Amino acid sequence: MAFLRVCSLSDLAEDTPKRVELDGVPVSVVRTEGEVFAINDICSHANVSLSEGEVEDCMIECWLHGSSFDLRTGKPSGLPATRPVPVYPVKIEGDDVLVSVTQES
Ligand code: FES
Repeated sequence: MAFLRVCSLSDLAEDTPKRVELDGVPVSVVRTEGEVFAINDICSHANVSLSEGEVEDCMIECWLHGSSFDLRTGKPSGLPATRPVPVYPVKIEGDDVLVSVTQES
């Protein structure tokens, strides 16, 4: 599993998603509740960016229709989204935030 550097930990403001692209995959990186999470940046309901939504209680809310996704599992908490969004493993090394968007083969 290849981890790629995303940014410095100090670049991530609490509860403010940061959109990055890793190997062509759009990812929203979120620092909240003392942890850093990485979730695919595209809502599973329609093609909009989750990083433009609000973060609260380890959930990110889609700004368009209001479904919230659990940053730990990617599961939606309610309609209209019914499908989960992929989440990715995160590693912190010193001040570096690393994310892997590749599956183990
Ligand atoms: S586009 Fe995200 S909930 Fe509809």
